[in-house]
Amino acid sequence: MRAKSKLKSPEIFIRPLIRNIKGYIPGEQPQESGVIKLNTNENPTPPSPKVLKAIKKATDSRLRLYPNPNAKKLRQALAKLHCCEPENVIIGNGSDELLALATRCFVEPRTASTKIQKNISKQTIQYFTPSYSLYPILANIHGARKKEFKLTNGYGLPEKKGLNKGNWDFQAALTYITTPNAPSGAGYKTSKLAKLCKIQDGIVILDEAYADFAEETALELTFRFPNVIISRTFSKAYSLCSQRIGYFIAHPKIITALDKIRDSYNTNELGQAAALATLDDLKYYKGHFKRIIKTRNQTSKILKSIGFDVIQSQTNFIFVKPKGLRAKELFTKLREKKILTRWFDTKSCRSWLRITIGTEREMDKFLLSTKAIVDNHKQR
Ligand SMILES: Cc1ncc(COP(=O)(O)O)c(C=O)c1O
Repeated sequence: MRAKSKLKSPEIFIRPLIRNIKGYIPGEQPQESGVIKLNTNENPTPPSPKVLKAIKKATDSRLRLYPNPNAKKLRQALAKLHCCEPENVIIGNGSDELLALATRCFVEPRTASTKIQKNISKQTIQYFTPSYSLYPILANIHGARKKEFKLTNGYGLPEKKGLNKGNWDFQAALTYITTPNAPSGAGYKTSKLAKLCKIQDGIVILDEAYADFAEETALELTFRFPNVIISRTFSKAYSLCSQRIGYFIAHPKIITALDKIRDSYNTNELGQAAALATLDDLKYYKGHFKRIIKTRNQTSKILKSIGFDVIQSQTNFIFVKPKGLRAKELFTKLREKKILTRWFDTKSCRSWLRITIGTEREMDKFLLSTKAIVDNHKQR
């Protein structure tokens, strides 16, 4: 007979830090059919036929084997694409994994007894608000100090004067910058990012998850500044969310350090095969980027014409402030019509809705539904 434990709850074994934090809440992935998904910035078009073929070809008895631990071929192909060496590249199980690894690699966990500013900086993860909502969660998980800094009105990057005034930490161990920004979609000039990277005495991750939809990429900055990391993903522009492949480009010393602490088999063989085949068929994707950008601009124009505020986007989503009803209400009413968008319940985002650009047909339905909801609201 099994002895009865005296323990009321195993919770006491969980570190207080973990017990008290909230986990990341991902966007809804509905099980029901017929839903228009404009909530998680996925690409509405499928991966290229060549990519699907490559995944099928890799699906055989080799699944019993471990994958290539260093994603060697993929790193070589990415190095060729970005005119660098494979030693400049690390592949992650989505860029999320690498963003998390960076906290362990560069940031000291918070200790109670740090009085000197320099030590505090070594425990600090800094980011603008609003930006990718994962950053504060990663800081909490690591037990780091969080330093948030508000973007300017219109979601622009502050000038140095503004940073000084707002107590920006120029020595922060790790600074995340989402560029173009999410959730606003605002794009940033490389020259402006360069100024920031130059004066920053700590690691800066330029999270370029949406760079393929933007006017500029800041890739060159990682080759100019050894403290700068470029983060990219195959999820958004390359229709591969499910395969979980992201990567960093950085100085080889940075890559070596990250490599030491990652899981040996962090990316699977099918994901590596899919990403490799993607790089062989970039023409297919570039055509889709153009279409998404065109649909994005058309949708923005129409929403503006009915009085919505729309931030000029350089991504595959738009950030809009509805006219005549609250963002949360529009979000709920669209949900009732099986159209999913993303609403963030934070001070800086509460009045706004983030809408991923879907196919033209999906956006037509979204616009028709939105207009109907707004009109209906007016008549009440
Ligand atoms: C700004 C930003 N960075 C990174 C990611 C994560 O992408 P991945 O699928 O590569 O983990 C996302 C996903 O939503 C994102 O919005």
